[in-house]
Amino acid sequence: MARRALITGITGQDGSYLAEHLLDQGYEVWGLARGQANPRVSRMRKLLSDVQVVRGDLLDQGSLISAVERVQPDEVYNLGAISFVPMSWEQAELTAEVTGMGVLRMLEAIRVCSGVSRGAAAASGQIRFYQASSSEMFGQVTETPQNERTAFHPRSPYGVAKAYGHFLTQNYRESYGMYAVSGILFNHESPRRGAEFVTRKVSLGVARIKLGQATELRLGNLEARRDWGYAGDYVKAMHLMLQAATPEDYVIGTGRMKSVRELVEAAFSAAGLDWERYVVTDQTLHRPAEVDLLCADPKKARTQLGWEPRVAFDELVAMMVESDLRLLTDGGDPDQDSSWP
Ligand code: NAP
Ligand code: GDD
Repeated sequence: MARRALITGITGQDGSYLAEHLLDQGYEVWGLARGQANPRVSRMRKLLSDVQVVRGDLLDQGSLISAVERVQPDEVYNLGAISFVPMSWEQAELTAEVTGMGVLRMLEAIRVCSGVSRGAAAASGQIRFYQASSSEMFGQVTETPQNERTAFHPRSPYGVAKAYGHFLTQNYRESYGMYAVSGILFNHESPRRGAEFVTRKVSLGVARIKLGQATELRLGNLEARRDWGYAGDYVKAMHLMLQAATPEDYVIGTGRMKSVRELVEAAFSAAGLDWERYVVTDQTLHRPAEVDLLCADPKKARTQLGWEPRVAFDELVAMMVESDLRLLTDGGDPDQDSSWP
């Protein structure tokens, strides 16, 4: 029988790549989708027609229990979150509820449906749980590169909520013997990335300027450095983590850092443009507390899971710029995320 996976956050960037990867592996894939008439669900159904949809919301404990009961998954991937860091200052409580408490509700749904309690440890063949943790938990870094033992100093309500989810995942593993792992993923991008994140904002900005639809691109802190990889590579690591004999946490990244300035240079140059003529820095786009640099040490994932990133930074940037040039040339609407193939 095909293995069954339940993915929260199915309408997001990672949900789409993970679903494709699991379908390729022969899984029956279910996506948890929220809302009454969520337009991203119909878009997702068009792209991923083989994914079955179950309704539910990370804010609603009962809906998660019903979803797990209905799907009877072998693996649950909790990708759902408020994931845009600046929004977490504007809606800190909602971020805590969805990105933080949502992890508790999902773990509880699995625990209750599996009949696990303090007196009854998880059995073999139990539901395996993946938590989408984040390098934002490292925040103001205490060492570089960051590995699985590096201390956390989150710098945003989002980072704090993710740290809660991370420790809770570890705690359910230790308290109940549940197969629960936390993947500490560094920034990963693609043509399906939301337009609010800096890589996609830049690739769309370059495409608009190249096609004569805009004359400038306004950005915040150009000196921040990130470890940027390709989302299609990173979802494979999520799957590998749940296939390991024992549940453990892993850092996933490339081990290479680039600044926002270098990202901008690479993107404009991919379109044959000189970035200095078009980029305007805007103080209002700076964050109340910035994460200055993030750089992964992915050695554990390489040695224990055999995972390696395949797409290099320049290739990723060129892929995103080319995709947005095609999208806008064809009259697509980036706000509808129609760059999805
Ligand atoms: P994304 O594109 O922003 O997708 C977020 C998903 O969460 C969407 O499908 C959204 O669904 C869903 N969601 C929001 N609120 C929800 C709720 N109340 N109940 C259920 N689902 C809800 O994020 P992503 O880039 O794919 O990232 C996936 C996960 O990895 C997130 O948890 C993110 O924090 C984490 N992460 C991402 C990165 C990265 O660089 N991409 C790095 C580290 C960790 P709607 O369509 O209904 O809004
Ligand atoms: N979004 C955005 N917009 N960021 C800008 C801009 C701008 O106009 N100008 C400069 N930046 C800088 C930000 O200050 C930040 O230092 C960096 O670009 C990256 O910003 P984002 O692309 O918004 O990503 P993020 O690093 O804050 O968060 C992403 O990665 C995390 C993993 O480290 C998100 O995907 C999170 O969900 C994820 O956990």
